[in-house]
Amino acid sequence: MKALILSGGKGTRLRPITHTSAKQLVPVANKPILFYAIESIRDAGIRDIGIVVGDTHEEIRQAVGDGNRFGVRITYIQQEAPMGLAHAVMISEEFMDGEPFVMFLGDNLIKDGIRPLVKEYERSGANSQILLAHVPNAREFGVAEVEGGRVIRLVEKPDNPPSDLALVGVYMFDRNVFEAVNSIKPSARGELEITDAIQYLIDKGYSVESHTITGWWKDTGKLEDMLEANRLILDGRETQIAGEVDATSTIEGRVATAKGSKITNSCVRGPAIIGEGCVVEDSFIGPYTSINDRSIIRGSEVEHSIILEDSQVVGIGSRLADSLVGRNVHISRNCKTPRAYRMMLGDNSEVSVI
Ligand code: TTP
Repeated sequence: MKALILSGGKGTRLRPITHTSAKQLVPVANKPILFYAIESIRDAGIRDIGIVVGDTHEEIRQAVGDGNRFGVRITYIQQEAPMGLAHAVMISEEFMDGEPFVMFLGDNLIKDGIRPLVKEYERSGANSQILLAHVPNAREFGVAEVEGGRVIRLVEKPDNPPSDLALVGVYMFDRNVFEAVNSIKPSARGELEITDAIQYLIDKGYSVESHTITGWWKDTGKLEDMLEANRLILDGRETQIAGEVDATSTIEGRVATAKGSKITNSCVRGPAIIGEGCVVEDSFIGPYTSINDRSIIRGSEVEHSIILEDSQVVGIGSRLADSLVGRNVHISRNCKTPRAYRMMLGDNSEVSVI
C-alpha cells in the first residue's frame, strides 16, 4: 500500500499566512501539520508516500526532504494548479503504479492515527473506504448517506444534509479510482471533486465502505480550527523543561520549553510550548500558546495563540489572544506622539484593536 498527501491548494481561508508560505507547514504545538500526517502514515506501516505540491513546493521540499528523517520515501508530484482533490489523485496514477493507497489531506489532523483504518481497509477487500465523523454543522462539509456501513450517496456542502456524517480528510482507494477521476467533469467551482469521484465508484457498483471515527480530527483550513488543533495537541503534551527558567519565574501546568530558551521574571501557565532560542521576559504566557523558535516575548501577555518563528511581541499594553502571528512579525507598543496605531499589514490581514 502507498500513500498520497495533498499539500498543494490555494489556502485562501488562511491568508495572509498563505501569501508567503504553505498552510501545511503552519506549526501546531511547534510542529508543522504536515509532519503529523507523514508520521500517521508511517505508523500505519506505509513507507512510500507521494506528496502533491503546488506553488509552495520549494518550501515543502525543503522542510520534508526525501523523507529519510521520518523513515519513509517521499516522491513529489507537482500539480500545475489547484484543480481539485480528484485532480490531485489523477496526476498521481503513475506514482501509485496499480497499488491501493491512502489519501490524506495535508492540512488535516487525526489524533488516533490511521493504522487500524488502513488494516481494516486491507482486510475488507473493498474498492474504497472513506472516513466519517459526526458533526454539528454538516452543511459545511461533504456529507455521506450510509446504509449498514456502505456509502450510498455523497453530497458536497448540502443545504439539506442527508445525515450528520461528514467526510474526514482521509480516503482509501484501489486502482479503480483512476477510472473515476478520469471520467468526472469539473464542478460549478471548476474543480474535480473527490465526492464526485467516489459517487462515480458507487454508481458503477464498486464497493465503498465507511468507517465512522470517534476520536477527534481537525481540518485546519481556518484560523479557529488551527487554534483548536493547537489546543487539542497541547492538551496531550507533558511537561518538559529543556531551557532556562530563572528563580523569579513560575511554570504552572504542562509546559514544554526547548533548549536555548530563556524565561525570566515571567509566568508561563500551560498547556504551552516554547521553542528553541526563545526569550520570554517580564511576561505572562497563558494556556494554549505555542511560541516557535527564536521568538521574543517581552513585557507582554499572550494566550491561546500560535506565534511562528523569529517574531517579537514587546511591551504591548494589553493581552494578545486567539491569534496566529506569522514569521518575523514585530508587534510593539507605540510611545510616539500622536498616540496612534501604526501598522504595516499584508493583504487580507485581520487586526482587532481595543
Ligand atoms: P482545501 O482546504 O479544500 O483547499 P485549499 O487548500 O485550496 O484551501 P481554501 O479552501 O482555504 O482556499 O484543500 C485540502 C487539502 O488538499 C489542502 O492540504 C490542500 C490540498 N489540495 C491540493 O493539494 N490540490 C488541490 O487541487 C486542492 C483543491 C487542495
